[in-house]
Amino acid sequence: SGRPPVFAQRAGSSRACHPAPVAATRIPHRFRQHAGLRRSLPNASDQENPMTVSLLPGHPHFAYHGNELHAEQVRLSDLAQQHGTPLFVYSKAAMLAALRAYQRGFAGREVQICYAMKANSSLGVIQVFAQAGCGFDVVSAGEMQRVLAAGGSADKIIFSGVGKTRAEMRVALAAGISCFNVESEAELEVLNQVALELGVRAPVSIRVNPNVDPKTHPYISTGLKDNKFGIAHERVVQTYQRAARLTGLAVKGIDCHIGSQITTAEPYLDAMDRMLDLVSAIEAAGVPIHHIDLGGGLGIDYRGETPPAADLLWQQLLTKLDARGFGDRALMIEPGRSLVGNAGVCVTEVLYLKPGEQKNFCIVDAAMNDLPRPAMYQAYHQISALQPRQDAASTWEVVGPICESGDWIGHERDLAIQQGDLLAVLSAGAYCMSMASNYNTRNRAAEVLVDGARVDLIRERETVADQMRHEHLVQG
Ligand code: LLP
Repeated sequence: SGRPPVFAQRAGSSRACHPAPVAATRIPHRFRQHAGLRRSLPNASDQENPMTVSLLPGHPHFAYHGNELHAEQVRLSDLAQQHGTPLFVYSKAAMLAALRAYQRGFAGREVQICYAMKANSSLGVIQVFAQAGCGFDVVSAGEMQRVLAAGGSADKIIFSGVGKTRAEMRVALAAGISCFNVESEAELEVLNQVALELGVRAPVSIRVNPNVDPKTHPYISTGLKDNKFGIAHERVVQTYQRAARLTGLAVKGIDCHIGSQITTAEPYLDAMDRMLDLVSAIEAAGVPIHHIDLGGGLGIDYRGETPPAADLLWQQLLTKLDARGFGDRALMIEPGRSLVGNAGVCVTEVLYLKPGEQKNFCIVDAAMNDLPRPAMYQAYHQISALQPRQDAASTWEVVGPICESGDWIGHERDLAIQQGDLLAVLSAGAYCMSMASNYNTRNRAAEVLVDGARVDLIRERETVADQMRHEHLVQG
């Protein structure tokens, strides 16, 4: 069914750059199942290796110490008690470690890493990346305002998206952003007009559609011919020639983004080849290309997937770039999920257990409004008890309280649980809170950022008054 292998090996080159788990606690065998550790036991010798058995997605920043799931040095159960559930908990060290893998990969190169903040646009998260020197890939004026509010600088912002409005173009030009990634010929004309009205030149890249298959879920595959994104390969050169003639535009670079949750290097290597072919053709037609932006898309481990580590991926891509004689070009990338996905978990409480003839339901207080990925993409998120019990596990359908059957968090999960227990939904740092809704008039969850032993509440739990603030009864 296209599911990734459950028992995938974790050791090996793609893990080489992860720091060793800190004080990894060996989980007794009876706990492994509900701690979600079965898949990390590929062979007998690994069972003897406590470093292997204790790995969760997000390790070593999320790990069991003394039968308690921690975020860095903080017990998640303490956070749940203090802040209530559902609660998103992020590890700052995990974000910075993910960023460092990219920085290592680009050492010695001219690069701008632009965090694709749609993955998680909470101010406290943006602030971490702004302080670490990142730029940002935004897809709305709202996202741009968030960057500025969190202390990021406009001159490191790139603006992507197929439907930028004139108003958004105006505010982005006024702020002085680094580049617009233009997605159609019609958008190019409008951006030119808006820039001329303001008396400025808009820096542009053209997002090309390289027509490569990223082999991911169809909803998050963006670089195929029949996707709505980018300008078709065949039209790229003439579009650049047109852009170069428009006096409100300044051509800067070329851009592509082929999809998300990509777990092998091949689609990137193919996309790079096609991009470089285009750069040659565009420059032969007289338009110089200063930077190459290869988008985001690198996948993470949700369920034993082994995407290439960012530094190893870029080693391969840079080797290709050099071999083809483009080693002098400035680079840009737009990673989202790979910077934050495994830097966050969602802590939720078991409200009710409802064993049945066909299925056992475990009803938790997080729902599809907090964690939309299972309902939207049939996505898998590991679910682990904060304080694993020694009892025998049963198989549960983990579901939320929302009034539709699409509201599920995990199918057929083996868990030893009781009412009132706390669970962590792992790999919840990306595309969870940023996609959360108020469906069923549920308040969006609170968020905390952990840094060592320090805990900061970066988003208060929403209230119903917050939700109703901008609504009006009809008068009279
Ligand atoms: N750049 C552009 C132009 C994008 O459209 C995206 C994501 C990114 C960068 C960042 O991609 P990442 O590194 O995060 O894969 N909601 C879906 C994912 C949608 C991705 C949309 N575009 C999910 O939960 O899987």
